[in-house]
Amino acid sequence: MMPHYINATPDPSRIMALAALMRPECRLTILTGAGMSADSGIGTFRDTEDGYWSQFDPRDLATKSAFLAHPERVWSWYQWRREQIRNATPNRGHLNIVALGERLQSLTLVTQNVDGLHQMAGSDEVIELHGNIMRSKCHLSHQFIREQKWHPDVAYLPGPPPPSGHHPDGLARPDVVWFGESLSPNQIEQAIQASCHCDLFLSIGTSSVVEPAATLALLAKSHGACVAEINPQETPLSARCDLIIRAGASDTFDALMSTLDAD
Ligand code: OAD
Repeated sequence: MMPHYINATPDPSRIMALAALMRPECRLTILTGAGMSADSGIGTFRDTEDGYWSQFDPRDLATKSAFLAHPERVWSWYQWRREQIRNATPNRGHLNIVALGERLQSLTLVTQNVDGLHQMAGSDEVIELHGNIMRSKCHLSHQFIREQKWHPDVAYLPGPPPPSGHHPDGLARPDVVWFGESLSPNQIEQAIQASCHCDLFLSIGTSSVVEPAATLALLAKSHGACVAEINPQETPLSARCDLIIRAGASDTFDALMSTLDAD
C-alpha cells in the first residue's frame, strides 16, 4: 500500500495569509491526522484508492470484538503497521511544526495519529487522542506492558498476540483507541481546553469525520479562534474554515517557514 504523495504547490497568497496570523503572541492549536504522516510513507484511512478503510473493513481490524474473535489477525495487522512506522522518519511537516513552536508564545499539538512521528521530530507534550501503536497493553486489565521482547532494530513479526503478563488470560493488544472505545479523559480534556483557548486552530491532514476530534475545530471557532485547514481534499470542516490551503502538509510548511524567515 502506498499513500498519496501530494505535489500541489500551495497558493502563495494563502501562505502569506497564514504567515500573517503567526504573530509571536499567537496561541496556536494544531490538530493533525493521517495526512500529516502521508509524506513519511504512512498510510491514511479514508483516501479512496489506498486508504486502509478502502481496503479493509474497520470492524474486522479496529474493534474489541474483532480482537476477541480473531486475535492473531488483528495483532498481525498492527504488527505490519508497526513495521511500516519502524522504517519511517518524520517529514518536513513534522519538523517544521517543531520550528514553528519555537517562534510562538504557545503551540499545543493534538494528534489523531498513533505513529509517534511528532515526538520523533522533537515535539514535546503531544496530546495523542487515539493512543500510540508502538505501546502495548493487556486486553483485560489495560495495564501497559513495559517489557517488550522486541527491540527497535528487530522487525515486528505477524503472529498471535503474546500473553500480557498482567492477567492469567490477558493478551497484548496495541494501545490504540478502537471503534466503540472511549478516549483517555485526560487527553480529550486537554485538547478541548487548547481548542477553547487559542487564537488560531490549524487542522492538518484529517478528513474531519471522526468524533470527538472533528468537533475541536468547531469548538475553537465558537470561542473566537480563526480556523485554517491544510488538506489537498475538501472535508466537512472546509465550509467552516477562515483559510484553506489545498496542498500537502510538507510543502505547505516549507512555504510557510520560508515566508516567516523572509520577514
Ligand atoms: P483520514 O484517512 O480519514 O484522512 C486523511 C486526510 O489526509 C484526508 O482528508 C486526505 O485528503 C488528507 N491528506 C492526504 N495526504 C495528505 C498530505 N500529504 N498532506 C495533508 N493532508 C493529506 O485520516 P484521519 O482523519 O486521521 O482512528 O482519521 C481519523 C481516525 O480515523 C484515525 O485516527 C483512525 C481512523 O479510524 C484510529 O486509529 C483510532
